Amino acid sequence: MNNPLPQDTYGYVDAQGLLVAARVRADFPILAREVHGRPLTYLDSGASSQQPRAVLDAVERYATTMHANVHRGVHALSQEATTAFEAARETVRRFINARSSREIIFTRGTTEAINLVAQSWGGSQLRSGEEVLITHLEHHANIVPWQMACAAHGARLVAAPLTPEGEVDEAAFAALLGPRTRMVAIAHVSNALGTVLPVARLIALAHERGVPVLLDGAQGIAHGPVDVQQLDCDFYAFSGHKIYAPTGIGVLYGRERLLAAMPPWMGGGDMILTVAIDGSTYNELPWKFEAGTPNIGGAIGLAAALDYVSALGRERVAAHEQRLLAQATARLREIPGLRLIGTARDKAAVISFTLAGIHPHDIGTILDREGVAIRTGHHCAMPVMTFYGLSATARASFGCYNTDADIDRLVAGLGRVVEVFA
Ligand SMILES: Cc1ncc(COP(=O)(O)O)c(C=O)c1O
Repeated sequence: MNNPLPQDTYGYVDAQGLLVAARVRADFPILAREVHGRPLTYLDSGASSQQPRAVLDAVERYATTMHANVHRGVHALSQEATTAFEAARETVRRFINARSSREIIFTRGTTEAINLVAQSWGGSQLRSGEEVLITHLEHHANIVPWQMACAAHGARLVAAPLTPEGEVDEAAFAALLGPRTRMVAIAHVSNALGTVLPVARLIALAHERGVPVLLDGAQGIAHGPVDVQQLDCDFYAFSGHKIYAPTGIGVLYGRERLLAAMPPWMGGGDMILTVAIDGSTYNELPWKFEAGTPNIGGAIGLAAALDYVSALGRERVAAHEQRLLAQATARLREIPGLRLIGTARDKAAVISFTLAGIHPHDIGTILDREGVAIRTGHHCAMPVMTFYGLSATARASFGCYNTDADIDRLVAGLGRVVEVFA
């Protein structure tokens, strides 16, 4: 893929080496539109991020110059599409520093990646009386697939509790890791609270007992460098659409030894070597887990997005988001009646909050009229809401394109909300 930025990142980085978010913002065509006659302040990247021109162009270039099915054709288009698709896999491998592209499986997203592990690994490994350990801050995508796998095999789902700040209670987590624990499946970053989990310590605890660890990286992937070898996780799942790529494409990283021992989970074309009516043999990794025609354009778009983020600099993006988080948190704290939900010491740029006496949906609706897009609801993390005794929160989440002006507009919009309900 073409590097979407000039080599010297001219214009994207200021004299102090900080990201120039206004320049980044200009790369995202959708951010130029208005909403209800107001400029758009997009603070819902935690749900789905926007796509830069480099990604839109890569997907269009694929569709207009080389689209054909992959892995099957002798003709030029099919071969070019296959080369681009497999090059995208290599870009993903490099981005997360996996040892081999055999460890990179394309899925529709995080949800599908976790279901793959819960069904394939769970189906072959999980036995009656055993346990899967998660935490109370998981997204439903990292709860329900494990409930289903546990129910199918007579196993039990166990969840480590939270502290009032929204951190995982590490002592309780360690105590729950017992001789029956067969898998630990935890978020890298909480979508509802912004908490960055101490995954290095939790993985080390699990590995001391020989228990593999799946990280739900849906929120973690975009908010800082991810190196699966350094993390030493066994599985890492993420979605393209939360890191500036299109929807419908995601990744399961799996340690090769574990993936090799797992049976295929979906049957069909591409995942087989031979098929006869009385039996089939299966393809090698990673294709063993990729039945049917994949999202070729999506994978190419994902690679372009990862190249884009790499060119911006992942540490630089993370530092930018941390600056926005600190600034927005300080300003929101000054608003009377505003309660921050989730005050972990280590947080990504996600701010969940409530306003006394005002339903989060009303906050979201009034902000929308001001052109400010935030998310309201349970954020697919109902156990988190139950823990705080809430049905919903309002959530602002930040990305590489958010500017100080976006924070000004959020704060002004919240002033308007308070005014309406005064
Ligand atoms: C922490 C977390 N896990 C899993 C998911 C599910 O991602 P997807 O819907 O892209 O599969 C999300 C999406 O919001 C998330 O935030």
